[in-house]
Amino acid sequence: MKREMLAELLPQFKSLVGKENVLSDLESLKAHGSDETEDLNFPPDLVIIPETVEQLQEVVKVTYAKEIAITPRGAGTGLSGGALPVNGGLVISTKKLNCILEIDQENLIGVVEPGVITEVFQKKVESLGLFYPPDPASRGSCFLGGNMAECSGGPRAVKYGVTKDYVMGMEIVLPDGRLIRHGGKLLKNVTGFNISQLMVGSEGVLGFITKIYLRLLPLPKERVLMLVPFPNLQDSATCVANLFKEGVVPSACELMERDAVLASEKHLGISFPANANQAEAVLIIETDGYTEGQAMTEAERVTEICMELGATDVVLADSSQKQENIWRLRRATGEAVKKEAIYKEEDTVVPRAALPDLISNVKQICQRYGIKSVCYGHAGDGNLHVNILKTGLTNEEWNSKVFEAIEKIFEVTIGLGGTISGEHGIGYVQKRYLPMVYNSDELEVMRAIKNAFDPKGLLNPGKWV
Ligand code: LAC
Ligand code: ZN
Repeated sequence: MKREMLAELLPQFKSLVGKENVLSDLESLKAHGSDETEDLNFPPDLVIIPETVEQLQEVVKVTYAKEIAITPRGAGTGLSGGALPVNGGLVISTKKLNCILEIDQENLIGVVEPGVITEVFQKKVESLGLFYPPDPASRGSCFLGGNMAECSGGPRAVKYGVTKDYVMGMEIVLPDGRLIRHGGKLLKNVTGFNISQLMVGSEGVLGFITKIYLRLLPLPKERVLMLVPFPNLQDSATCVANLFKEGVVPSACELMERDAVLASEKHLGISFPANANQAEAVLIIETDGYTEGQAMTEAERVTEICMELGATDVVLADSSQKQENIWRLRRATGEAVKKEAIYKEEDTVVPRAALPDLISNVKQICQRYGIKSVCYGHAGDGNLHVNILKTGLTNEEWNSKVFEAIEKIFEVTIGLGGTISGEHGIGYVQKRYLPMVYNSDELEVMRAIKNAFDPKGLLNPGKWV
């Protein structure tokens, strides 16, 4: 029915956005039916790529009148299926809304469209001596609009915060095509609801983010990167909270267990320094500073604390090649681990000091179910990516165990004061677990918010809300 309606509307869409921006060939539809979540594919019936916000508004007005659902899409790097058109229908891509509109060096604000690649924006502001810290692993290809939708984090979040901490304002196209504005270049703003912050992490169910005001910082002058092997996984996690207790705030504090190290090395064909793959776990710790010597002074303190808490060594990455390799290996971990087998990727987060508890519980649960787990992630944030692999299990064993094991992991996570996603979102694949986190009153408030933005339920259907 909707498919026929879309076919009838084709000429109108082509005249609104140009025929090159309306895709209906099978290859394009298939390509827009997946993101980076498992091997899921839900081809849409049509893809539209507006080149201006006005074009987007015009298309949305047409689909709203006909009650056609839309799945918004950025770069398709999401890990919870938020961009999957699970009911088919129309996908609207933001990839041609990709201008950096302004870098205001006096107010330290960048103004961007949603289709700007995160790393392109980071490099641009760095060339002006400025810093935009949120750095998800996919920063070389993900879009800032998608980072807003999922409130992306990444390694630097531990010192500098996540995407939400940089969002000062937005323009949003509502599901009926109207455009609303909130905030702007203001560092202070208590004028009604903070709609911009409501949009951050809403996963494309409320509206299209078409303009974003982002806070910038001065670029730190120095960085020191260390690789810290531990003979014991538990000790590496215990060490993390102790760094903070001792007053050290690193600019990155990542943990990788041995299988994650091995998978990344195999995937990229390069190695971590210092035989890291023989340790049960490694921490990747970075310090930075605005004044000369600050990063190194903190690195010395890090070294003392790590050595006291069971590290076998603290290896300084003393060349740009070593630093680059460590970060390349770490950023490739997700992809590398997933290559090993069919998998489920979890994004648990607990208060930082509860991380050792979470890890030991995850390992026990997976052992009990006979499932292989590979853990890595942002230890300084208490944010542990738990990849559960099908290795060695039959389809029946996998299907009968995997959801129960994940539920047990989530029960423990929530029991430790944590939640089921720190930075990947709920999207499509985690929605079945949402009632573990929120009760019916809490879910009702969220649904009422969805209704206020999208009373006909047309935007990103089949997702978490
Ligand atoms: C990472 C992604 C998977 O931390 O969040 O590598
Ligand atoms: Zn991550």
